[in-house]
Amino acid sequence: MINPKNIHASEPDASLDRVDGPVKVTGTAKYSAEYQFGQLTYAVLVTSSIAKGKIKSINASKAEKAPGVLTIIHHLNSPGIPGYPVVKQPAERAPLGTAFRVFYDELIYFNGQPVAMVVAETFEQAVHAASLVQVVYEVEEHQTDFEANISKAEMAPSVRRSKNSPFQDYDRGTTDAWKNAEVKISATYTIPTQHHQPLEPHAIIAVWEAADKLTVYDKNQGVKSAQGNLAQTFKLPRENVKVISKFIGGAFGSGIRVWPHTVAAVLAAKKLNRPVKLVLGRELMFTSVGYRPYTVQKIEMGATKAGMLIAITHEGIGQTSQYEEHLERTILASRAMYACPNVSTRYRLLSLDVNTPTWMRGPGDATGMFALESAVDEMAFALNMDPLEMRLKNHADSDPERNLPWSAKSLKACYLLGAEKFGWKNRALAPRSMKSNGWLVGYGMASSLYGFHRHPSKAKAIMLADGSVVVQSATMDIGPGTGTAMSRIAAKVLGVNPRKVRFEMGDSSLPDAPGQNGSSTIPSVGSAVHVVCESLRNKLVTLAEGMPGTSPSYANILKYHNLSQLEATEESKSGPERDQYSMYSFGCHFVEVHVKPLTGEVHVKKVVTCADVGKIINEKTARSQSIGGVVGGIGMALMEASVMDHRYGRYITSDLASYHIPVHADIPQIEVHYIDKPDMLVNPIGSKGLGEIAIVGVAAAVANAVFHATGKRVRELPITLEKLI
Ligand code: MOS
Repeated sequence: MINPKNIHASEPDASLDRVDGPVKVTGTAKYSAEYQFGQLTYAVLVTSSIAKGKIKSINASKAEKAPGVLTIIHHLNSPGIPGYPVVKQPAERAPLGTAFRVFYDELIYFNGQPVAMVVAETFEQAVHAASLVQVVYEVEEHQTDFEANISKAEMAPSVRRSKNSPFQDYDRGTTDAWKNAEVKISATYTIPTQHHQPLEPHAIIAVWEAADKLTVYDKNQGVKSAQGNLAQTFKLPRENVKVISKFIGGAFGSGIRVWPHTVAAVLAAKKLNRPVKLVLGRELMFTSVGYRPYTVQKIEMGATKAGMLIAITHEGIGQTSQYEEHLERTILASRAMYACPNVSTRYRLLSLDVNTPTWMRGPGDATGMFALESAVDEMAFALNMDPLEMRLKNHADSDPERNLPWSAKSLKACYLLGAEKFGWKNRALAPRSMKSNGWLVGYGMASSLYGFHRHPSKAKAIMLADGSVVVQSATMDIGPGTGTAMSRIAAKVLGVNPRKVRFEMGDSSLPDAPGQNGSSTIPSVGSAVHVVCESLRNKLVTLAEGMPGTSPSYANILKYHNLSQLEATEESKSGPERDQYSMYSFGCHFVEVHVKPLTGEVHVKKVVTCADVGKIINEKTARSQSIGGVVGGIGMALMEASVMDHRYGRYITSDLASYHIPVHADIPQIEVHYIDKPDMLVNPIGSKGLGEIAIVGVAAAVANAVFHATGKRVRELPITLEKLI
């Protein structure tokens, strides 16, 4: 029996297992491509085989006659997308934020661009017919090679237009002060293009329920934003579009936007007036849903002989397409990470004949912190100083960029805890001085930070007659275990067993909430769940006041008042603290590598990762998030690279055999530690983002460990064998 008049936290000691674990492992969880419909049709995209030019002609007559074919759509016969901006020919850019316009005109912007779509009764028929579509191109010379075109990089037009853009040139103190420092370094770091590789590729089933009513079952990271985007694209009232994404087989940013293939499937379903299913194969994942952009960064750094940072200059050049700008936070971490009086940052974009990049776990920050944290390691080496000591010395006690106090920061505690758990004190200062069984041994570390994102979020909580609780919000679970964490938050406020809470999400008709991105779900939606459960509890307490006895259960309160259920809806958003404090998650990673001197083979032997993200809601799922981030960071450091054949502007890594990601044998024991101290200035649950800080800095920690093992500084990822021998 629960006394609502005197509710206190009745949290279980142990972490909750994933509430959706059983449906996932038994195969009953339904992913986007798995919904069944009578009359379902299958779409296959025909994509361009050139990187730049024009479509001269499309001959689909053979394909049209192939068995089972229902329609073939391309720019010459497209019914048109009512919400696409009409622009003048030729080659006028779409307004910023407008995705590439599918089947819009004859222009080819990248190799792999969808130029036609075949829809047939079966998938196999669609694949066959797609092979019969003949496209003739007028080929123009393309530029896809970043290094060969780097001199053409420029400040993004949108940044030039916006004085307040964070990507404007930034100078704090004296520009180029590093040149006069006692000790200085200057180095250039490169990360190649990297692609998201979730187990589940992107997939959509589009169903028109009526001429002006659309439902899509789509793999994405935000049902509300997809709903808004599709409503705008097809000129429908928002409420006439329903987006369902109940289960996602992993996503790292590729599902934040609505991509052209989604629009194409919706268009085809409209034309046929039948449900259309489109699943991207692994190859199309390389050209359809963005990627972490190729980025070159130059860092110049000056310090005193005692190891105090005097100046940092951080320049970053990122890749984008010819039709759209993609900006990311590459250089921003250098402004906030260390107490350094003179900091300059520059950010430029290079437009190439490629598809637009997108956010990929820790976008910008993971890239930027590879450079910054490698450079700090280089500086520590130049100073003959322990790299951890160097970081402790230059710890920023307040935000040096915004001149604000941190809402909370336990980075020093992270450093010390991580160092102790890792055994950092056993590290010999000189590189190439530690060995084990003929392998070189290296210890490396790096810091991590990630900005705090909290968006207005609504949630509804319903107490049912049996005392169980349903909480609803149109947020997502791309893998971290959103439902598990939300159940725990609700259970704590209501004082019920978390197993009595069911969290519903992934449906755009639920209360308005942000999608899952920017590590914002727990901070944003978790706060709404907390607040709405408080509101529901207060209603129940009020109802209990008139009742006989002292300790009625929730079920009895409803029964006494003859209610079948009781509900509350609340919104939660940031308060004035947002502008009074600087809010970040912090962390650090310690890595041990062994390197075989003869072959350059790198084995990661141990990782200790430590994060200060405020309150940990559910340790078990949080730990999995941290481990996943570290695995991603190891892949980034040692394996991942999308390789393009610039003769054709086409990726030659187009499957998981050629695009390497870590497998279990590559991953050692990963130890995860949290400071777990609530930051009550950020939100009512004291919890900050965890998903992305988990990867930020990992690649630098690995690279720094490789340097310590071998004495070789690899500044161009991935660190493959040939770079070490
Ligand atoms: Mo993340 S790159 O915001 O999915």
